[in-house]
Amino acid sequence: MKIKLVHPNLNYKTNILDSLEQLNIIDKPNGPIPGSSNINGYSTIEEWLEFINTKDTETVLVPFLQYIALNEQNDVVGFLNIRLSLNEHLINYGGHIGYCVTPKFRNQGIADQLLKEAIKICKEHDISDILITCKESNLYSEKVIIKNNGILEDIRNDGCYNFKRYWIKS
Ligand SMILES: CC(C)(COP(=O)(O)OP(=O)(O)OC[C@H]1O[C@@H](n2cnc3c(N)ncnc32)[C@H](O)[C@@H]1OP(=O)(O)O)[C@@H](O)C(=O)NCCC(=O)NCCS
Repeated sequence: MKIKLVHPNLNYKTNILDSLEQLNIIDKPNGPIPGSSNINGYSTIEEWLEFINTKDTETVLVPFLQYIALNEQNDVVGFLNIRLSLNEHLINYGGHIGYCVTPKFRNQGIADQLLKEAIKICKEHDISDILITCKESNLYSEKVIIKNNGILEDIRNDGCYNFKRYWIKS
């Protein structure tokens, strides 16, 4: 499946909501959905877009780029967030790249495509050493990282979870 990345906007509101509904029903996230700029933390898509587009410095910790991934039918098949710098939390647990794949499009190589595109975008922004993490229990995510030449540095615990920290170097 060929995907394209776009910055989210209101033209894709219904498609974003469809993906979000599946993510919430299937994953039952108990925290922010990875790669979504915490879309669940906003009551409307409009408020979420406003946050992404204004990047209010009081709530944004580091500069970032937010994307949605679309298939040829414009279904939202995933979300991707790229942090352009790292604060202490991101260095320890979050990394430069976060993403998720809409449940009905999983196990079709989309995460692998998202990570490959994310690596290209990082390079375009002069990030040559890319940190990417996954929870120790997230075997599918780990597979994608290893497939894309991630080198394990260590495992750090944030008080709740063990995070495996991988570097992808260009
Ligand atoms: C982790 C996640 C991103 C993987 O997305 P995906 O598009 O399904 O991943 P891929 O199709 O690229 O598959 C990655 C690997 O996992 C395997 N895999 C994925 N789903 C699988 C399933 N249901 N059963 C068996 N293997 C599976 C694939 O076969 C592939 O392994 P391979 O390289 O040996 O072939 C997706 O499950 C997800 O969004 N999870 C919730 C959010 C999340 O965990 N984000 C990552 C945060 S670090």
